[in-house]
Amino acid sequence: MMPAPEVVDPPVAGAPRVAVVTGARGNLGAACARALLEDGYRVAAVDLFPPAPGDHPPQLAWFRADVTVPADVTRSREQVAERWGPVAILVNAAGVARASRFAQISLDEWRHVLDVSLTGSFLMTQAFLPDMRAAGFGRVINFSSTAGKNVSTLAGVHYTTAKAGVLGLTRALAKELGPSGITVNAVCPGLFETEMARSLAGDLDLDAYAGSLPVPRLGQPWEVAALVSYLVSDRAGYVTGAALDINGGELMT
Ligand SMILES: NC(=O)c1ccc[n+]([C@@H]2O[C@H](COP(=O)([O-])OP(=O)(O)OC[C@H]3O[C@@H](n4cnc5c(N)ncnc54)[C@H](O)[C@@H]3O)[C@@H](O)[C@H]2O)c1
Repeated sequence: MMPAPEVVDPPVAGAPRVAVVTGARGNLGAACARALLEDGYRVAAVDLFPPAPGDHPPQLAWFRADVTVPADVTRSREQVAERWGPVAILVNAAGVARASRFAQISLDEWRHVLDVSLTGSFLMTQAFLPDMRAAGFGRVINFSSTAGKNVSTLAGVHYTTAKAGVLGLTRALAKELGPSGITVNAVCPGLFETEMARSLAGDLDLDAYAGSLPVPRLGQPWEVAALVSYLVSDRAGYVTGAALDINGGELMT
C-alpha cells in the first residue's frame, strides 16, 4: 500500500495572502479578482484604466499602471507593498487582441500586442518575484489562449505569437522557480462571453460558432476564475509549467 501523501504547501496561518491581478478591469481579470476576494485573499487590481463606477466590489484596491512600462510596474509594486506587504499571487491577465490580418499589421501594433501579454507578464513577474522568493511560496498565473497552442480563432498573427510566447515564459519560469516554492502556470481560454471576443468577431456569428463546440456555448468569465482560484491555492502545489485548456472542447491537447 502507498504511504499517505505528505501535505504539500500547508496553508499559512495569519494574514490573508496578497494577490495582484492585472487587466482587472477586463471581463476575465475582473472575474478572477472577484473570485480571489471571495476566497479570502487581499486583492490588488492593476489596470491601465480606472474601474467603471459601481462595476467592482468595494474591497478591491485599484492601482493604475501600464504593465509594459517599467516605472509603472515598480510603482505598483511599491504601492501594494505599502498597503499590504508582500505579494504571494500574481495573475497576469492584461492583454490586447487585434484582428488585423498579417499584411496590415503595423510594427507599432505588432509591438503593442506582444508588449502587453508577453513583456507585461515578464515585467510584473520580475517585480513581484522577490516577495515570493523571500516567503518560499508563490503562484504566478499567465493568461495565454487556445491561440497559444494552435491559432487564434479571431485575432491576428501577433496575438497568436504573443500567446505562444506566454507559454514559453511559463514553462521556463516554472523550471527555474519550482525549487523556490513558486509555481507558474498558464490558462488557455477559448471563446468566452467577453467584450474582447465580441469586438473581434466581425462577421462571424459567435454564438452559432460556439454552438458547434462539444460544449455548445461560450464560456463564462467565472469559469476561468474558478480555474485560477484552484491554481493559486495550496491544493495546486504540484501543478507547475502547465498550460490548462478551458475551451469547451474547441481544442483538445
Ligand atoms: N476574452 C476571451 O475570450 C479570451 C480568450 C483567450 C484569452 N484571453 C486572454 O485573457 C486575458 C483577459 O481577457 P479579457 O477578455 O478580460 O480582455 P479585456 O480586453 O476585457 O481586458 C483586458 C484588460 O487589460 C487591460 N490592459 C490592456 N493593456 C494594458 C496595459 N498595458 N497595462 C495594464 N492593463 C492593460 C485593459 O485595460 C483591460 O481592462 C487577456 O490576456 C486575453 O488575451 C481572452
